Amino acid sequence: MFQLTRSVTWQALQRLRDETASDRISDYFRADPQRFDKMSLRVGGLFLDYSKHHVSGTVLNRLLELAHHSALVQRRAQMFSGDIINVTEDRPVLHTALRNLGDTPVHQADGRDVMPEIRATREQIRQFSEAVRNGEWKGYNGKRIKDVVNIGIGGSDLGPNMACRALLNYKHPDLNFHFVSNVDGTHIQKVLRGLDPATTLFIVSTKTFSTQETLINARTARRWFVEQAGDEADIGAHFVAASTNRKAATQFGIREENVFEFWAWVGGRYSMWSSIGLPIALSIGFDGFMELLRGAFEMDQHFIEAPLEANMPVLMALIGIWYINFMGAETHAIVPYDQALHQLPSFLQQLDMESNGKSVDIFGQQVNYKTGPIVWGQTGSNGQHAFFQLLHQGTRYAPIDFIASLKPEPGFEDHHFALLTNMLAQANAFMEGSQEGSRLKHDSCPGNRPSSVLLLDALTPRNLGALIALYEHKVFVQGVIWNINSFDQWGVQLGKRIAGEISERIDTNVDDFDASTQGLLHLVRQHF
Ligand code: F6P
Repeated sequence: MFQLTRSVTWQALQRLRDETASDRISDYFRADPQRFDKMSLRVGGLFLDYSKHHVSGTVLNRLLELAHHSALVQRRAQMFSGDIINVTEDRPVLHTALRNLGDTPVHQADGRDVMPEIRATREQIRQFSEAVRNGEWKGYNGKRIKDVVNIGIGGSDLGPNMACRALLNYKHPDLNFHFVSNVDGTHIQKVLRGLDPATTLFIVSTKTFSTQETLINARTARRWFVEQAGDEADIGAHFVAASTNRKAATQFGIREENVFEFWAWVGGRYSMWSSIGLPIALSIGFDGFMELLRGAFEMDQHFIEAPLEANMPVLMALIGIWYINFMGAETHAIVPYDQALHQLPSFLQQLDMESNGKSVDIFGQQVNYKTGPIVWGQTGSNGQHAFFQLLHQGTRYAPIDFIASLKPEPGFEDHHFALLTNMLAQANAFMEGSQEGSRLKHDSCPGNRPSSVLLLDALTPRNLGALIALYEHKVFVQGVIWNINSFDQWGVQLGKRIAGEISERIDTNVDDFDASTQGLLHLVRQHF
């Protein structure tokens, strides 16, 4: 069986790590005045500067060799053409088909082209979103919709939630959007408080229509609605669903025609391009939603066509592998210098950690190397006044992705200038460090801390689509090189199963749970 760590390239990279460990990134710039030009790249409205990394030209070449020797080219083709690459769930992985705006068919293993169904669902989204936005869609007493509440969790929340907030400037002026995910009752209570059932639309977003948290929240919303509206028959005008489980959605009371289809071959964390993106279409309009898809489609084309040496997701993936597998980094920070992108770190956290948080490879072997990092972060400049201290002077090592959009908000140019200069100052400070006043050493910053800077020309639907697709493919490339399946999530399933067992058996028999769980359940039981 192929052993990644025994490969010539892997071992060469290990030697290179030893040889370059004490290099200063800033020396790479002194040695090569063209480094910024060589190590930066534009794709559409996205510009990536990856020059401030602890990566010499030789290291980059070896990393590229790793990609060339991996199954990347083959697996990429398999993903786009609908082969079953999610082997543990026996499914193709076709989120890219959802944003296929070309006229090429995409066949599943059974030979069926998925594009007609995708186009039909897009049309359903268009008609529905337009009707709600222009007021043709009426609530039970004839009023137009003012508030949209998305009920979903994980991939059925994070994508649309992140995108609606990121694209707030494009939002319909008379619609408000709310996202309920946590099963903690305070979440839905807080959202429902102040809403008028006559003008509220609920989207029950759940691929399976069986996720406990979402079903509890959806039932609470339905109860609240019926109590106030007074008639179960009115549910149809106020509840719609995005789900693969049409039967369960209609049993819940949702009209058949208001169930927005999606498919088993879309992973939850890859589903914002499907009907799970309905809140996005409602917020920014169907044309805006199509722009989001267009941006992702263009990134897909780049990912397929660009040589690996100039392929943005591939380069980001390889640099990540360098830090995780050779430089000992445990985490990866996402720091958007853009308040509208404040949900991006949480979105990318699920995308990356649920995809590549695996330790058994596709051959069923325990891996003997690190896989996905701990992904975390928050917006700058806030982060500067919170966790940056540790990154500047602490004992840990975490590469950072700085993300910002160049275009200022009209009337707030001074804010935007300060935002961008702060970000660039930080990226510079992390690399250069400072030896000023180093007599006591407490104020010296070692520097040599790596970062990427990713600039969007502007935070538009198209550029956001490209940005998200970029990270999706980065995660995919890493998964391929690590030989893991990035598209299942059995660890999450375990938690779901045990939660179900505990709630079913709490009154009868929990003796086979460990003593700690039994003791704690005893305390819980006293309150129910
Ligand atoms: O977090 C695990 C997960 O299965 C995700 O993949 C999914 O996005 C989420 O749960 C919610 O699942 P569903 O959309 O079926 O309610």
